[in-house]
Formats: sequence, structure tokens, C-alpha cells
Amino acid sequence: MCQKKLKALPKNITIDGPAASGKTTIGTIVANKIGYMCLDTGIMYRAVAFQALKEGIEISDEAAVTSLAERIEIDILPATSQDGRQFDVIINGEDHTWDIRTAAVNAVVSEVSVYPGVRKAMTLQQRKIAEKGKIVMIGRDIGTVVLPDAELKIYLDASVEVRAQRRYVEDLSHGKDACLEDVVDSLRHRDEIDSGRVVAPLKAADDAIVIDSDKMTVYEVVEFVMGLLEMRE
Ligand code: DC
Repeated sequence: MCQKKLKALPKNITIDGPAASGKTTIGTIVANKIGYMCLDTGIMYRAVAFQALKEGIEISDEAAVTSLAERIEIDILPATSQDGRQFDVIINGEDHTWDIRTAAVNAVVSEVSVYPGVRKAMTLQQRKIAEKGKIVMIGRDIGTVVLPDAELKIYLDASVEVRAQRRYVEDLSHGKDACLEDVVDSLRHRDEIDSGRVVAPLKAADDAIVIDSDKMTVYEVVEFVMGLLEMRE
């Protein structure tokens, strides 16, 4: 690609959208191209869910899960292993990069992320990380709640069927014993909770640019986002 020089990059870029819509793939590529860091905030909610299960905390115990979210230490660092990971996820000093991606965590993470106290703790950390700028921040509520003043907001959408197919292929490539119907059901369930919660539900910010990636390749979506950055000159 003959890439134009990008003069006026936004301080931060937000990418929101439903589960498995390709946010992290697109965000990582765009961030690499423009020399920004990429933070997938879903990791933080997954870390809380994983640690709650690990400590035997009842997921329905809001006070206990919230207290955990307030004390948990989550470090998201550049990948040190070539096993397909995009980041190293260190929780309270231990590498749990793959443990946060299990079906057990998938089953409870949306529930955990409904709790206002959990969201408050995560939002505070996310805003702090974004203060220095040069972050592509990915999640569900980044453009609406975490960084409402961000200059470039993307909302990446895709149908549940397309997202499930992509996630299914990804799971198989990681050697997981996946079933397409289960993936569809799990995504539908999470979409419902993510969009229906009272605090910071999944939705596009009014000033977000919505990209429907159903019929687009990763390359096409990246090109589209890079085009948006070039238009800012
Ligand atoms: O993107 P993901 O599937 O890894 O996200 C895991 C869960 O975290 C998802 O069900 C919703 C929640 N989440 C959220 O509520 N807000 C965010 N900013 C990011 C993720």
C-alpha cells in the first residue's frame, strides 16, 4: 500500500463492538501501522472473571466480585511467546493469557461486567492508561463512557452468524474442541447481556463511525480505518 503521511493523528482511537467482531485484530494492525499501543479492555473484565473463579468467589456475589476488581493487578504486556497470543496477560503476577479465554470464563464474564463497581474500577484504570495518548482502546463502552472525547471512534459490527463462524475457526486453529452452534448461542447470550445492561451498555457512540464488516476482509477494514485517518489531514 502506498501510505500517505499521517499528520494529525487523534490522541486516542476507540473501537467498540460486539464480541468477536474483529476489534482486536483490526485494532492491533492499525495500532502497529501508526505506532500506537493497543489495549483490549475485554481482557480486564476477563481477568476479573477468571480470578473470581480461581478464588472460588460466587459470581452472583456482587460485593465480593467488586472488591476483587478493586484490588486485582492486571498487566497487559507485549507478547513474549509465539503461541498465537497478542499480549501477555499477567494477573497478580502470574501469566494467565490463555486461562482468560476458556468456556468457563466466557460463561460468566458478561455477568461480571454488569456490576457498576467492577465497571468503575476498570474505567478508572482505562482512563489512566489513555491519559498519555497514542492508544487504540478496544471494548464495548470506550467511545460512549470511558473516552467520550476521543476524536476518532469506530464501532465495528458484524452479524452473529459471521462472528460465530470467525470465532469457531479461530477456536479450531487453537486446537479447541469447538461446536459452531454452541459458539452462536454463547455469542447471542453475551450480546444480550452486553447490550441490555443499565450501566455502559454496548452501543455505538453518536459520533462513532459504524463499520459493518460482514462482507469485508480484515485488509479492507484496516484500509477503511487508515482512510479515515488520512482524511483528517
Ligand atoms: O471483548 P471480549 O469478548 O474479550 O469481552 C469480554 C467481556 O467483557 C464482554 O462480554 C463484555 C465485557 N466488556 C465490557 O463490558 N466492556 C468493555 N469495555 C470490554 C469488555
